[in-house]
Amino acid sequence: MKYIYIIRSIFLFSFLTVSIISCTELLSNESNPESLNTIDQKVETLLSKMTLEEKIGQMNQYNGFWDFTGPAPKGGHAEKKYEDLKNGLVGSMLNVRGVKDVTAVQKVAVEQSRLGIPLIIGFDVIHGYKTISPIPIAESASWDLDAIKKSAEMAALESSAAGINWTFAPMVDISRDARWGRVMEGAGEDPYLGSKIAEARINGFQGNNLSLNSTIAACAKHFAAYGFAEAGRDYNTVDIGTSTLYNMVFPPFIAAKNAGVKTFMNSFNELNGIPATGNKYLQRDILKEEWAYDGFIVSDWGSITEMIAHGHAKDGEHAAELALNAGSDMDMESYLYVKHLENLVGNDKVNLNSIDDATRRILKVKFELGLFDDPYKYCDLQREKEITGSEEINNAALDIAKKSIVLLKNNNNLLPLKREGQKIALIGALASDKTSPLGSWRIAADDNTAISVLEGLNQYPGNTVTFAKGADLTYGKTEFVSELKINTTDKSEFKKAKEVAINADVVVMVLGEHGFQSGEGRSRTSLDLPGVQQELLEEIFSVNSNIVLVLNNGRPLAINWADENIPAILEAWQLGTQSGHAIAQVLYGDYNPSGKLPMTFPRNVGQVPLYYNYKNTGRPNLPGPDSVFWSHYNDEENTPLYPFGYGLSYSTFNYSNLRITNNFKKNSKIEITIDVKNTGAIEGKEVVQLYIRDKYASITRPVKELKGFELLNLKAGETKVAKFELTEKELGFYDNQGKWILEKGEFEVYVGTNSQTQNKKSFELK
Ligand code: BGC
Repeated sequence: MKYIYIIRSIFLFSFLTVSIISCTELLSNESNPESLNTIDQKVETLLSKMTLEEKIGQMNQYNGFWDFTGPAPKGGHAEKKYEDLKNGLVGSMLNVRGVKDVTAVQKVAVEQSRLGIPLIIGFDVIHGYKTISPIPIAESASWDLDAIKKSAEMAALESSAAGINWTFAPMVDISRDARWGRVMEGAGEDPYLGSKIAEARINGFQGNNLSLNSTIAACAKHFAAYGFAEAGRDYNTVDIGTSTLYNMVFPPFIAAKNAGVKTFMNSFNELNGIPATGNKYLQRDILKEEWAYDGFIVSDWGSITEMIAHGHAKDGEHAAELALNAGSDMDMESYLYVKHLENLVGNDKVNLNSIDDATRRILKVKFELGLFDDPYKYCDLQREKEITGSEEINNAALDIAKKSIVLLKNNNNLLPLKREGQKIALIGALASDKTSPLGSWRIAADDNTAISVLEGLNQYPGNTVTFAKGADLTYGKTEFVSELKINTTDKSEFKKAKEVAINADVVVMVLGEHGFQSGEGRSRTSLDLPGVQQELLEEIFSVNSNIVLVLNNGRPLAINWADENIPAILEAWQLGTQSGHAIAQVLYGDYNPSGKLPMTFPRNVGQVPLYYNYKNTGRPNLPGPDSVFWSHYNDEENTPLYPFGYGLSYSTFNYSNLRITNNFKKNSKIEITIDVKNTGAIEGKEVVQLYIRDKYASITRPVKELKGFELLNLKAGETKVAKFELTEKELGFYDNQGKWILEKGEFEVYVGTNSQTQNKKSFELK
């Protein structure tokens, strides 16, 4: 650690003390407004001055000198980043953060390279920057698009104040496999919800005006199909058909493009035999041509080099050729564009037009960000100080954290907790953990900065809280990620925890996964509570069954036993900096839970991939008593433990009077309304969900597809009407050639509280 700091100081010192030798040709042109009008013209003017080497430089992205989010290459250009920066051979850096560091690298690019083109500074602002918001799957459970947008806006504000102007978010990969560690980073299993959330996040990051110093460029990733890795193992092979690609994978990317996302990132996986990074069909044919996307595509970390291991490229030079020809504009950490592209142009293996096109796209985003007007616009130490961790940012983090919590079970109204005179036993190592709630993508956040559940509960002085951890999750220190693989077997603290539980009126147990047990490279084969936590739960239950189970996790878990035995269960994911406050406020009823699951919770890992929008098969039902020959398991139900869209409230809601205006004719629309009444005693929110089923089609359709939702706030006893519209856009689908089609026939419309609703009406598409 010390060593890194010494190197870092040397770099910083040399960057900051370099003399300003070349105030660039480019910046002097900037002062002559006549020669530069629109951004496109500015780009062309600049392009005309660039050498081939400088153009290639713009397509080259280096990791900073300090943080790593992937395996760091050695040798060659990896050893001479500083030289390359001076020589105009670097267009972007990632993982350089903080005004001081960003200013240092920007100064070299702007003041020492020939043309002085500013760097675009990328960082994984995935769920907050220094102030951490809930992990994306948690935020998605809010179904609250305004709150999600606000959260991204706050992340942009805080990170931009630290010098960053480009986030590698949102991840819009649909995934149906809870084993995959990166489900924590997405919006879950549904393309409709995923599209709405993609749009909200992009609008939050980019705002209405990208040239402000509080907005940053967003990046839709990972293009494409990364979430369909076989067996949920990260980086694994993907083999899916056109129907799934077009109808499940593409929609959130299309939504991102339509929302004006400035960049795309390709992905590590191969798709049907061709790595996404070298996939011309995906990047050039679909994204850049069919969808007419005009932003740029960055490779994933080292994904150009990885095409060699995939068995697609012969060597580094070949990999660079394949990637560029397929449409990857910027090389993240492969060092292959900077090394080989010039030769490849010379050998006619890649076309100069492709280089110009990539450079143009990159420069355009830099102009749109306003970097040419002021390369240091994000570099204001005073602003950084004022904005980092501000009250506004923390308030927004608390707001979305509360809204992300999902009430899974609440027998006998055990929740909300009574405020006075209760003895509460708080059990589980996660209950006092101030790091784990920060989740997986929290590079800029400091350890021990989240509010723990213990701290949150202590804000309510009417009750006494006694804490016992019961058991750790893992051996060793949690900051060493590899040690998280080793779950502890140590039960020596069980006894103490049981003693605390015996005397309590109510036991709150905080169990689940550590923040580093999901995320990139953190796939699991089991969806059980890690380590000895299940045993701990059962032992505590044997002495006091009045348990509220608070789950902290980055993916759906299989919690059958808990569902059968524990009276109250709260899904609280990893909620970020304000975690403990949000959980306590929900436990005490200061916030009435309103979240709904964005991903199916299975009964058993063997059911995975399990998702609500499945196909019916030819044998969906038990045909007669004792029949074997239907689509089912011998040892488990087909149904999930908790379906997509599921979540309870301290209020109850009644749905009635589902109405459909008319049958559907081409170019028209159909209106659906329903009355929703809060039949509970307190104000609450309900996410009213609309699903359709296309009963028969030339290509079979799922048994249900989400096509609308509305978040209603209802006072006790109040009734509101939820209104939806269905147009061709919701009723059609992509055929196996990727063509959008609308077919006549019978449709069912379901409106209700989750994806298992049977509240339906039919209509005919004529
Ligand atoms: C991840 C990307 C991330 C990049 C940079 C990669 O390993 O797949 O999502 O943006 O690293 O940190």
